[in-house]
Amino acid sequence: MTRAWKIEPTGPLRGDVTVRGSKNAVTKHMVAAILGHGASRIGNAPRVGDVEITASMLRSLGCSVERDADTLIVERGEQPASAVPQTFTGRNRIPVLLLGPLLNLTGEAFVPLVGGDRIGPRPLDFHISALAAMGAQISVDDTGIHATAKRLQGTKVKLPYPSVGATESIMLSAVLAEGRTVISNAAVEPEIMELALFLQRMGAGIQLQPDRRILIEGVEKLHGADTRLSGDRLEAFSYLVAGLLTGGQVRVHGCAQERLVTAIETLRKMGTRFDIGEEYISASAPDGLRSAAVHTDTHPGFATDWQQPLLVLMSQARGLSVLHETVFENRFVYVKALQQLGCEIELFPMCLGGNACRFHDTNHLHSAVVHGPSKLVGAQVHVPDVRTGFSSVIAASIADGPSVLMDVESLERGYDEPLKRLQSLGMAITVDEAFEETAD
Ligand code: EPU
Repeated sequence: MTRAWKIEPTGPLRGDVTVRGSKNAVTKHMVAAILGHGASRIGNAPRVGDVEITASMLRSLGCSVERDADTLIVERGEQPASAVPQTFTGRNRIPVLLLGPLLNLTGEAFVPLVGGDRIGPRPLDFHISALAAMGAQISVDDTGIHATAKRLQGTKVKLPYPSVGATESIMLSAVLAEGRTVISNAAVEPEIMELALFLQRMGAGIQLQPDRRILIEGVEKLHGADTRLSGDRLEAFSYLVAGLLTGGQVRVHGCAQERLVTAIETLRKMGTRFDIGEEYISASAPDGLRSAAVHTDTHPGFATDWQQPLLVLMSQARGLSVLHETVFENRFVYVKALQQLGCEIELFPMCLGGNACRFHDTNHLHSAVVHGPSKLVGAQVHVPDVRTGFSSVIAASIADGPSVLMDVESLERGYDEPLKRLQSLGMAITVDEAFEETAD
């Protein structure tokens, strides 16, 4: 039995959606907050499963996390524990970000093995070698990562790839380390900049340098601070695409245009017309959509978390489209669900539609060729990860016949109250809390 959404084919989705802060920013802010003396208030916090998981993780360490409407109030306890309990094994990717902070606060740390979407091996070697370079003694076994350090020391770290998690991990470790840390080849995603600004408000010494360098001067003490999260660019894009795909028009509020520059340009080239104001972005395609060749990249390139709704959109554009994934080698796990819904997509191991990436000459199926327009049909599909969930929902809404999406918890882990928002746009969804899967 599984929690499932039943989706009836719906007409054009129309209306307004306001996006709140993103799962990928709020959880890191919650970790940062425990570095300060006194409470921090994180406003515009989304109601996503990952916040609940991270809140219980922090509470298990003796910290307090309260919600007052859209604001999270986070304060670390007098004497935080140094070990994240094993019960959090595989729940999300936050435990590894706690390693440095726990070392700073207690001199030792244990975190269980991290989870998150299964979109590649997702190793933690950058996180671990950076902490080791900062003087931590680290060992990894099949229960998790153990570390000790008298006091972390600032150092120079050159990341082999601009990893979001590793950049955050080093920032969260370096702010209370002794001396200066310089991260070269750092990730510069908007969520990282947001975290840097929050840490600066908490009293951290942080400078953003040209050429992907972040310079951190360790300080003795941080204090609590207040912030308001910016709107989620991944959700904003998803809802704009939901409107386009169904021949409707969704107006998204709460996400700054500057966070969507590449996404807007990609959709514009496909034939989308935009109406952009100070407070909103609205997209429509009255003349239909054309095919495109897109490759994902680190910021400011086309985000890997935008590609799932885009692939569904490509299935309804005229002609052959190509999508080359260069961030995660196994990001196309969700394509099976879209194929069951009738999307004509073929996967290839070579780098199509762009320069060779890290995965060329491997067997990883990381390029997709999409034939449009495909005729979609209702189906029963599993939702293996956050972004897949949304793409399957919007595909189901234009399919011929009803569909059932099983295991929707993973969608709810990352999207803020998606059921309410999609229903308000006109999507016909009912929830079955105990759906019994039938053989096809
Ligand atoms: N990598 C390594 N070693 C490391 C760390 C990363 O080889 O120690 C590699 C990864 O295997 C991957 C690449 O570097 O090939 C980029 O990974 P990154 O560390 O940037 O990803 P992440 O921090 O694990 C975050 C988001 C993802 C998002 C990526 C890329 C969170 C919790 N997750 O993951 O979000 O796709 O950055 O922007 O912030 C999602 O929201 O659905 C999601 C998967």
